[in-house]
Amino acid sequence: MSVLVLPELDDVNGADGAVDSQRLRKVFGRFPTGVTAICVVEDGQPVGFAASSFNTVSADPPLVSLCVQTGSSTWPHVQKSARIGVSIFAADQSLLCRQMASKTGDRFAGAAWSEGEGGSLLLAGAAAWMETSIEFEQTVGDHEVVILRVHRLGVDGDQQPLVFGDSKFQELKELVPPKPGDEPGARAVQESLLSLSLGWW
Ligand SMILES: Cc1cc2nc3c(=O)[nH]c(=O)nc-3n(C[C@H](O)[C@H](O)[C@H](O)COP(=O)(O)O)c2cc1C
Repeated sequence: MSVLVLPELDDVNGADGAVDSQRLRKVFGRFPTGVTAICVVEDGQPVGFAASSFNTVSADPPLVSLCVQTGSSTWPHVQKSARIGVSIFAADQSLLCRQMASKTGDRFAGAAWSEGEGGSLLLAGAAAWMETSIEFEQTVGDHEVVILRVHRLGVDGDQQPLVFGDSKFQELKELVPPKPGDEPGARAVQESLLSLSLGWW
């Protein structure tokens, strides 16, 4: 029988009743994600931003999600495009990703990109790409939750995706699965885990 040790938890609200945003960010940051470039071409000019809130939602129909800060000055430009490009940053694109998140300056300086269908913009050198359109949008808290429908997509299998976690850019490392017997006490569990195919995307 295992002993349950309750982790130490803080109340989200501080003594003054306000949310401790630093603590919240630290906990949210423990959940690593990929990073995407959400971009369009507007009047011939590239427009977009880096977003780590991208997630997969549904395979049939193909839907993904995105959260955009309420009050974003870039989103209104992206939002009105017939198609929105989603490029999944590659591990060697952390500098470009940083640039795509900057508040000032040219986010696309030195970046190679192409225009897809319906005004979508696809970044060269990315790990994968999607051309999407807005299916649904709803303000939730201080973000817009956006559901995007995927119309066309592509992947560069040679590129590893960039990872963002603990407020740092990182890259993936595949773990070697433990061999049955590595931890004698857990043999039965490990054997059943090893026979489990990871049937997720
Ligand atoms: C790693 C990283 C991830 C980000 N993810 C998001 C996101 O998911 N949604 C969002 O609205 N902004 C996100 N941002 C901020 C935007 O990239 C950008 O800084 C912001 O859109 C700039 O404000 P503007 O929209 O007014 O131009 C992220 C920034 C970084 C560095």
